[in-house]
Amino acid sequence: MNSDMNHQADLTSDMNLSTSSSGISTYLAELKRETDAHLDSRLNFSGDCPLRLANAMRYSVLAPGKRLRPTLALIAAELCGGRRADAYPVCVALESVHSYSLIHDDLPSMDNDDLRRGAPTCHRRFDEATAILAGDALQAFAFEVLATDIKDPLISAKCVGILAQAIGPQGMVGGQADDVVWASTIKNGTGAYDMIGEAIAVSTSDELSDSLTDVPEEPRRAGFAALLHKIHRRKTGALIVAALKLGALSVGGDDERVSVLEEFGQYLGQAFQISDDLLDERGSEASMGKRVHKDVEAGKLTYPSLYGVDTSVELLDRCAERSKDVLSRASAFFDSDSLAFQALRYLVDYVVERKQ
Ligand code: IPE
Ligand code: IPE
Ligand code: MG
Ligand code: MG
Ligand code: MG
Repeated sequence: MNSDMNHQADLTSDMNLSTSSSGISTYLAELKRETDAHLDSRLNFSGDCPLRLANAMRYSVLAPGKRLRPTLALIAAELCGGRRADAYPVCVALESVHSYSLIHDDLPSMDNDDLRRGAPTCHRRFDEATAILAGDALQAFAFEVLATDIKDPLISAKCVGILAQAIGPQGMVGGQADDVVWASTIKNGTGAYDMIGEAIAVSTSDELSDSLTDVPEEPRRAGFAALLHKIHRRKTGALIVAALKLGALSVGGDDERVSVLEEFGQYLGQAFQISDDLLDERGSEASMGKRVHKDVEAGKLTYPSLYGVDTSVELLDRCAERSKDVLSRASAFFDSDSLAFQALRYLVDYVVERKQ
């Protein structure tokens, strides 16, 4: 296997950092260190947990990921005036759920990948049954952490509800289901128009979907665009939005702050998956730590497959700009000179320019 066991992933490595942004880079490195340390200490399973299952869980979660979702949660907590330590339980829950989603995403019955985070995928390193069970266990563990480590019962219950909704049938799993069903539908030649019809029926005319679907010279693509937007909003966007909300809520952030962070997250989440699609098309296996050029082969509905690379890059830029517009409005609620606030702007640029 041609895996790069020295794969490193962080949120600053692909950026040309000016002196003014080196403070942000140090800040983000600190958030990652805190997340990694807390994951390492919290992911300890003894007693009735079989060693092979525990090893598979730790193998997947502690592998070098960028930790984007915990980072967003920590930033949101600080922006709402709280202590980062109060957001550690949501960081563990978010990265556990994210890792579970990657383990299952890589399974032979889904994307059938053998490389993740620079190392063999969980089912390759262990076996398929262990990988399925490690994903199941990580999902349950995430909710256990939210329910037991957050001491305020109201905040804990709110966090459980928000995460469950974000990753359930109408969230991440719903998006994953449409993503894989679309690919097999295309191969089998049936049902594609039903899926598009469903997507159009529920498509809302909010600013985010409008900004991503109004490529005027191609009106016949509107149905595909509605479905694509709906897949990405749920499979990737929902957890990114939840990360910001959970970070804010874990320190008692008020409704106005939570809602502006949510709006920012919707653009950032969409941008993140557009850039993931683009990296599958033109990124490299060595820097991504996962195989590339898989989406076309699998018949996935992605931004490059629908719009081509150039228009996808324009749509990515458009999404990034909209997220920065939200941040300009958000400066009424947050200290815009703080490192936490500047880090959000920086992360938007990172999502546009990233190679990992
Ligand atoms: C990969 O997520 C899966 C997507 C939602 C696109 P990341 O790119 O955040 O993966 P890691 O956590 O850094 O490995
Ligand atoms: C995965 O999307 C999204 C989730 C795991 C929820 P992809 O299938 O595009 O992610 P990669 O490219 O395998 O990381
Ligand atoms: Mg997938
Ligand atoms: Mg995949
Ligand atoms: Mg991908």
